[in-house]
Amino acid sequence: MFTHLLVSPAAALHFAAPTTPEQFTAYYDLRWRMLRAPWAQPRGSERDELDDADVSHMAAWDESGRLLGVGRLQLNTRSEAQIRFMAVEEDCQRQGVGQALVRRLEQIAREQGATSIILNARSTVTGFYERLGYTVVAQGVAMFEDSPTGPVEHTRMSKQL
Ligand SMILES: CC(C)(COP(=O)(O)OP(=O)(O)OC[C@H]1O[C@@H](n2cnc3c(N)ncnc32)[C@H](O)[C@@H]1OP(=O)(O)O)[C@@H](O)C(=O)NCCC(=O)NCCS
Repeated sequence: MFTHLLVSPAAALHFAAPTTPEQFTAYYDLRWRMLRAPWAQPRGSERDELDDADVSHMAAWDESGRLLGVGRLQLNTRSEAQIRFMAVEEDCQRQGVGQALVRRLEQIAREQGATSIILNARSTVTGFYERLGYTVVAQGVAMFEDSPTGPVEHTRMSKQL
């Protein structure tokens, strides 16, 4: 009898932090293209001072080594972690990649002793985080207010781990 194996696309992916210079270039380029370029922000604006410090980078790679999605975790305090810079390639969205990335970042947060995660969700994607168990705690900041395509409104959300 022929049996179909239904495997989620995300299951075929490899999740790991970038390590090589080429992988880091692709990682920051995806961030910039998805989170900065549409609002006319310059290259470099997709990074912050913590990127080279003690944060956890996470990325989704397909079998050919193509980068499909990125995300980052930082510890704000011993108990509170924060997710930033979540982005999935446009042609790979809505296939479970973002959800799988968040789950991995949450696991890292637990391993580091965090008991909660906060994030500033773009108001266009609060539904994505709600499906993952995050709840709205406050109105967040607006970014890129001077951009012709701005501003980008944010909503502060949190989740107990
Ligand atoms: C937000 C983003 C990271 C989500 O990644 P993704 O891989 O498309 O999300 P997933 O496929 O894992 O979605 C998981 C669930 O959330 C839902 N979802 C995804 N995007 C959503 C959105 N914008 N609004 C509401 N629900 C959404 C999916 O339908 C799915 O639901 P299901 O489990 O019931 O099927 C991605 O859309 C993205 O990069 N957006 C542009 C950049 C951005 O806004 N980043 C976030 C900055 S805070």
